[in-house]
Amino acid sequence: MSYLELTNICKNYQVGKQTFNVLKNINLQFELGEFVAIVGESGGGKTTLMNIIGGLDHDFTGSVSIAGQPLDYHHERQLDQYRREVIGYISQSYNLISHLTVLENVMLALDMTRLSHSERMRRAHDLLADVGLTAQIKKYPQQLSGGQKQRVAIARALAGDPKILIADEPTGALDADNTADVMAMLQKIAREGRLVICVTHSQRVAGAATRIAELVNGQIKSQPLTTNNELVTATVAPLPARPLPWRVSVMMAFKHMRHTWTWNALIVLGTAIGLFAVMLFDGLGTGIKGYINHEMNTLVDPQSIMVMHQADNAKDRDEQAAAVYDPAVAGGIAARMPVFTDTQLTALRDLKHVTDVEPGISATNATIAIGQQKFAAPELTTWTSSDPTRQLKAGHVAGDNQIVLDKSSIAQKWSATDWRQLVGRSVTVSYQTFDQKGKPVTVTRALTVAGIVDSTSEVGLNAVNYNTMQAMRSAARVSTQPTFVTVRI
Ligand SMILES: Nc1ncnc2c1ncn2[C@@H]1O[C@H](COP(=O)(O)OP(=O)(O)OP(=O)(O)O)[C@@H](O)[C@H]1O
Ligand SMILES: [Mg+2]
Repeated sequence: MSYLELTNICKNYQVGKQTFNVLKNINLQFELGEFVAIVGESGGGKTTLMNIIGGLDHDFTGSVSIAGQPLDYHHERQLDQYRREVIGYISQSYNLISHLTVLENVMLALDMTRLSHSERMRRAHDLLADVGLTAQIKKYPQQLSGGQKQRVAIARALAGDPKILIADEPTGALDADNTADVMAMLQKIAREGRLVICVTHSQRVAGAATRIAELVNGQIKSQPLTTNNELVTATVAPLPARPLPWRVSVMMAFKHMRHTWTWNALIVLGTAIGLFAVMLFDGLGTGIKGYINHEMNTLVDPQSIMVMHQADNAKDRDEQAAAVYDPAVAGGIAARMPVFTDTQLTALRDLKHVTDVEPGISATNATIAIGQQKFAAPELTTWTSSDPTRQLKAGHVAGDNQIVLDKSSIAQKWSATDWRQLVGRSVTVSYQTFDQKGKPVTVTRALTVAGIVDSTSEVGLNAVNYNTMQAMRSAARVSTQPTFVTVRI
């Protein structure tokens, strides 16, 4: 029984519909103390095989066993422990952490051992001294030469005192001197009783190995016997291992943030701008919606409907349709329109969902005399509860024998500056209408100005209350029945 045994290892890569058989039935045995060189052409599957041995890849068939115990590649915890305690990996591209210094890179691997902080520190310094990097421990990886990076990777791979050291092309980028140094290191490591598996293209490196395994077309072609029969089996006591503590992960994250702070600051700034824009537009949207709703509700009360009789001839019906858009037309037509009877008002009141029925009378072409001056009021109507009191700019809603006058068409024409002074003054209101027999009649009365209203209607709003309108009309002996009704639902 060998220390590490690979049995029937097969590995395929599926690219689109094509299958690449990279490893075809590999069987290999390794002993502690060996320094095995894996050679073979580029793309032959050496790194693939190393990843399987290193526990980095579990998508293959066949089995790997350590000291007679098969490894369960689908048991994550077991695999974690295997990688932590048994394997030291020097990858083809070093894989040093760029925001950590040389010392911190090695310390990170040592953080997965149960040594005390001072012991870890001492061991990190010793390991770096062994690979000749004592003077470089404060440098970051990008400040090192290729050979130096390779040494840091070796020191880090040895931190957990692994039984198996995998080195993928460790001398690929090194000159002859450095290659010799690294080889000497790997040989020393194997002699300490570890298994060193080294992937290489270099004949020199292969020559330093105790055994060479050649990978050709996904199979082990030749496996010359171990040159040195006296393998060192005495091993160093393994270091007690543990998973990377969360504290170390958090520290790493902070170090990374510090290392890339300009980048992070930009991300924070960008995110802040983004969030701010979202909040701004959300606020603007809500504000604009609220404003539009408010404006619409002040123009028209969505819960009240003005009801008029349908005209009984085609010409009046056309005018009536226009009246929806033009209150002046509405007033004109009102004079000729049939009025509402009490029975009709009751019928409206009895409708489902109707909460209130408010009768109104509207007249057209009124004249308002203030002292010697006369002003034309295209419409004189009764104030209904759907007229917004918000539009009152002075005074209050008209009571009995009072009137509310329009601000721009009457009050400001009377006085552009002192128009508020109109409130409390007496004015004479008159208009022409027809009695039941069709004879023209003048309706007139002296009223006190109760308030000034800034109406949104084109013809302005001059309004009295319903009582006053009825009193004016009954004095002139014309109908006092309502010409329109405001129905509240
Ligand atoms: N993720 C992948 N998906 C598809 N094919 C892959 C993948 N990884 C590797 N291969 C292919 O598998 C084959 C073996 O790759 P591998 O990296 O093991 O070669 P290698 O022997 O290490 O080569 P080199 O000496 O150049 O490092 C190559 O043909 C490669 O293209
Ligand atoms: Mg490779």
